[in-house]
Amino acid sequence: MAKLLVITASTRPTRAADRVVPWVLSHLREHAGFDAELADLRDWPLPFFAEHSGTIGDLADPTYSEPLVRAWNKKVKDSDAFLVVTPEYNHSVPAALKNAIDTVWLSFGFRHKPVATVGYSAGIGGGIRSIEHLAQMFVETEAVPLRNATVIPFVNDAFDEHGQPVNPMTAASLTITLDDLAWWTSALAKARAEGELPPGQLRARAAMAAITAARG
Ligand SMILES: Cc1cc2nc3c(=O)[nH]c(=O)nc-3n(C[C@H](O)[C@H](O)[C@H](O)COP(=O)(O)O)c2cc1C
Repeated sequence: MAKLLVITASTRPTRAADRVVPWVLSHLREHAGFDAELADLRDWPLPFFAEHSGTIGDLADPTYSEPLVRAWNKKVKDSDAFLVVTPEYNHSVPAALKNAIDTVWLSFGFRHKPVATVGYSAGIGGGIRSIEHLAQMFVETEAVPLRNATVIPFVNDAFDEHGQPVNPMTAASLTITLDDLAWWTSALAKARAEGELPPGQLRARAAMAAITAARG
């Protein structure tokens, strides 16, 4: 079964994520097709990104500066799909999430895999700017960010005392998000199994080296 990594982006005490993530996980349990695992970034206290060529070691199996960095790269690499649950901070994602994405460096763990998003915020925006910003970031990792996302405005009033969303469109929206994620997970797994080109940046590096060598 496809391995889905659910990433909780907010790490702060009192976070609204603790209302959103339990509901997302319960909804996921009713949705066939995924072997879901939670990666709460609180449990992944990654150092502020500072890797460089000297910390990588063997590019085929990078060591990095710390075992936790290596473990995070491996966790992402071993996953088939991603569901990111993120608030909006200053019209973008929390720095902890950006750092976790940057930390997947030269292992290409997000490459050719789908990423869906659940966004939320305390206001009317529902995290749409963080969702859009995240899509831009994931294009650079060569992941496939999906169009359909789940948007939860006014998050502090969005769930009832049983932890269920008060707006029925929230659950419908998550079902659509997960249906698309399952479709893309299957499609991209088949495509990866048929063979992948080397990452574009490595091909560009090789092309540059060939041009330099030809110039003498
Ligand atoms: C640093 C910071 C920046 C924020 N910026 C935005 C913003 O740009 N847009 C928005 O709608 N809400 C913004 N908010 C409000 C958050 O949507 C709200 O606090 C939400 O609960 C954050 O999620 P969390 O509690 O799980 O961390 C911001 C909150 C913080 C702490």
